[in-house]
Amino acid sequence: MDPGPHIPKQAIRKDVDLYAEITANSTRDVARHVLQMIPPLSAGIRIHDNGCGAGEVTGVIMESSPPEGISIEATDIDQSYLDKLQASARENSWPVNVTNRGSDQLQFVDGVFDLSIANFVVFLTPGGGVPAVSEMRRTLREGGTAVFTAWARLPHVDPVKAAHEATRGADGPPLREIPPEWWLGSHLQKVAIESGFDESKIELRTCKVYITIQDDEHLAHVLWSYLGPPMTGWLPSDEGDWDKAISVILANFQDTAGFAKTGADRATSIELTANVLIAQK
Ligand SMILES: C[S@@+](CC[C@H](N)C(=O)[O-])C[C@H]1O[C@@H](n2cnc3c(N)ncnc32)[C@H](O)[C@@H]1O
Repeated sequence: MDPGPHIPKQAIRKDVDLYAEITANSTRDVARHVLQMIPPLSAGIRIHDNGCGAGEVTGVIMESSPPEGISIEATDIDQSYLDKLQASARENSWPVNVTNRGSDQLQFVDGVFDLSIANFVVFLTPGGGVPAVSEMRRTLREGGTAVFTAWARLPHVDPVKAAHEATRGADGPPLREIPPEWWLGSHLQKVAIESGFDESKIELRTCKVYITIQDDEHLAHVLWSYLGPPMTGWLPSDEGDWDKAISVILANFQDTAGFAKTGADRATSIELTANVLIAQK
């Protein structure tokens, strides 16, 4: 998204590291749950890490001490993420091949993968995700497993919405948001079926993961920098309203379900919930 010409001077620049900071370990933790939900990886398994980002899923697979001879194809459309994954792959000698490719137009031949994972990707792809999931199905062998995930609840979105309304009014330009249907597990099931998976071979699971925050104020700045710009870009008034937005976000941390103070240091813990769709071809 283009942040436009009015980027507030307080905004932290949106880049790969800011994404990593905001999601902390959450997508990796979901990937760890996913590996527990599917059959154990077998020797020689061929895996697609679809919408791989900086290699969160690939990293989790490699840290799980996978069996001999596995291979991973990692694809994404954002070259800065791919470069990061390529660097990790080189450093750690991972058996991964990295390609810049949209999930809805894969160039792999039919039936080449045993396992295809799109972790928090499908809701970002064109055509409501059906072309991308159809491509996952096409490139899986018979009996292979496809997994795609989406958030069921991200509590930190609510304080950002409160700051948006407080500083821009109810009629302000809309925030960039996950399409509302994608919060529902039933929608993931619908997309899987529309993409050709047999209803009797799909399973919907959920899992909870946690982000622990030591510095609430820094988190508020990161959240507003990353999630705060409206679809049309930052407004000229956003720089002057920056402190007000941060105060509203901080005040809402106390009242939003899913936020808790934990441990001796009273760190903030945020509980995130993911939907996990597992489909067998
Ligand atoms: C929320 S991130 C998830 C990254 C990673 N899978 C993870 O588990 O953290 C979404 C990723 O989807 C990628 N993406 C968005 N649209 C895409 C598309 N049409 N085809 C492939 N990747 C896409 C983005 O570039 C980004 O890396």
